[in-house]
Amino acid sequence: MCGIIAIISQNQPVSERIISGLKRLEYRGYDSSGVATITPEGTIDVRRAVGKIASLQALVEQLPLTGKIGIGHTRWATHGAAVEDNAHPHSNGRVAVVHNGIIENFAELRRELEQKDHVFSSQTDTESIVHLITDFLDQGMRPEQAMKETLAHLEGAFGIAVLFQGEELIIGARKGSPLAVGLGDTEMYLGSDALGLAPFTDQMVYLEEGDWVILRDNSYQIFNAQSEPVERAKTLIAANNMSLAKDGFAHFMLKEIFEQPSVVGQTLSNCLDPHSRLPDFSGLNLPRIEPFQRLNIIACGTSYLAAMVAKYWLESLTDIHVNVDIASEFRYRRTPFVNGGVAVFISQSGETADTLAAMTHAKENGQFCIAVVNVATSSMARLADAVILTDAGAEIGVASTKAFTCQLVVLAAFTVFIALQHGSVTLEQGQQFVEELTHIPSQIQDQLHHKEELQQLAQAYLVHARDILYIGRGAHYPIALEGALKLKELSYIHAEGFPAGELKHGPIALIDQDVPVIVLAPFGPLFDKTISNAFEVAARGAKVILVTDKQGKSAVERMGQQQFTLFEVSTAGTFSSPLLCAIPMQLMAYYTALLKGTDVDQPRNLAKSVTVE
Ligand code: M6R
Repeated sequence: MCGIIAIISQNQPVSERIISGLKRLEYRGYDSSGVATITPEGTIDVRRAVGKIASLQALVEQLPLTGKIGIGHTRWATHGAAVEDNAHPHSNGRVAVVHNGIIENFAELRRELEQKDHVFSSQTDTESIVHLITDFLDQGMRPEQAMKETLAHLEGAFGIAVLFQGEELIIGARKGSPLAVGLGDTEMYLGSDALGLAPFTDQMVYLEEGDWVILRDNSYQIFNAQSEPVERAKTLIAANNMSLAKDGFAHFMLKEIFEQPSVVGQTLSNCLDPHSRLPDFSGLNLPRIEPFQRLNIIACGTSYLAAMVAKYWLESLTDIHVNVDIASEFRYRRTPFVNGGVAVFISQSGETADTLAAMTHAKENGQFCIAVVNVATSSMARLADAVILTDAGAEIGVASTKAFTCQLVVLAAFTVFIALQHGSVTLEQGQQFVEELTHIPSQIQDQLHHKEELQQLAQAYLVHARDILYIGRGAHYPIALEGALKLKELSYIHAEGFPAGELKHGPIALIDQDVPVIVLAPFGPLFDKTISNAFEVAARGAKVILVTDKQGKSAVERMGQQQFTLFEVSTAGTFSSPLLCAIPMQLMAYYTALLKGTDVDQPRNLAKSVTVE
């Protein structure tokens, strides 16, 4: 979603570098951008543009900004359309503000400030911060004091950076939206995302909930929510995780799909004891989850679908009762908590507002919280009691691909770990499951060799469709949901996933000759039932793309069935089958989007990291 970059330098103009930092945050999704600097005379100079950052860059080339103190922003519209007046920075000449998040009491603040003759020029919630700070400055306060008072009046979530007319400082603050201070030799930085600051410095200090910070060109001072001075730890960020190159691929998404054999392999190996080669999470000091205990798994979007797959796995190999919840529902629903219960939160970014709030809610209710995240320094990683890292590397494409398969391999290893701990599988069975998992990277590679076949399927059946259905049973049902989610977010074609057994309870009414149905049916106990559902939709004219494995293919061929178009996945095993079926889902969605000419890496209306609820 929105992104913030701010720089305060002793000797160099900053606007160009702020814009280059904003470019590195483009992947988060945005619809306008802007930058403001303090001129040598001490005034605030603002440039804003709607659309891609290239428009802002062109504007700044035409009307350069010379200041050495500046703030920049990419905005993903929440309050007010994506027009220049609503773009950040918002400034009234006295202060300039960039803001991520939502100020929930903005209407009330605006009403009060308008009564005091403050004149607003946008529809945003952010502008109320500008006028509130100004109101305190008007009362004779210094910037630091005005900021402290302002923060006490703001409700909601925010990461903000503020410039003050005639002042050589930047003030930043965070509550529910991440913000990090970057430390340089002759300058200081502020960023909502370490990725944006990576070219400038590898030394970061992450602000904690409620913190605010004053940056000067060679120093910084952090205050906590009570405005007491505090020290926060310095973190060295790994530069190799910060690469933003497409490495010859047409899109980040395609690059990320092709990275899966290596990142899934690396993530799996992180979960295994190097000697026994069995899953080992003992270093995390997790509480023992007893048989028949309830385990909550909470997430959003694709991460939620990984949680759904984990429910099938955990309940098939252990006696744990798994409750899977969408974070935005879980956080507001009353649910009984057992004191000392365990909850797992899955998130690529580790910053998703609803998942983070759900974790806070669970912690407040005495739950031990495990974060399965891809960003070691994320808010969730810092809030959780234990962290299991996926090792997918930076995922830039808005559509999650490699993070999802890495989440699945972690959850598979976690399942085997618990099953061995409970004795619900034998050591030999555990070793066989690990053997199955270790073949997954090369089997993903096999899938990737079939990309042309998937491109042809997209061309023949998907690109011209208005509606597409995905069906599956068991652990393939969440993969059907994931296939539909990938396709709709990338190609804007309406797509839905259903449990195959639910078709007759309603969705089959949608079927006619114009609706392709993608059926996920690798060979296994539910194969025959799913194939019956494929016949039912084919009998009503649907074009069926059957995703199955070698055994499933032979079975279908033995039936003499020629109506279905088959796509063969490499293998069928408890863990490998759903994971491998995810690969053709990703590639079909990618090629359909490519054929439709949509923006694959930054689909409309979507943001990579959903930091507002
Ligand atoms: O960073 P998170 O995993 O918490 O993000 C959750 C969802 O926003 C994310 O998976 C979203 O659904 C993706 N765009 C799916 O491709």
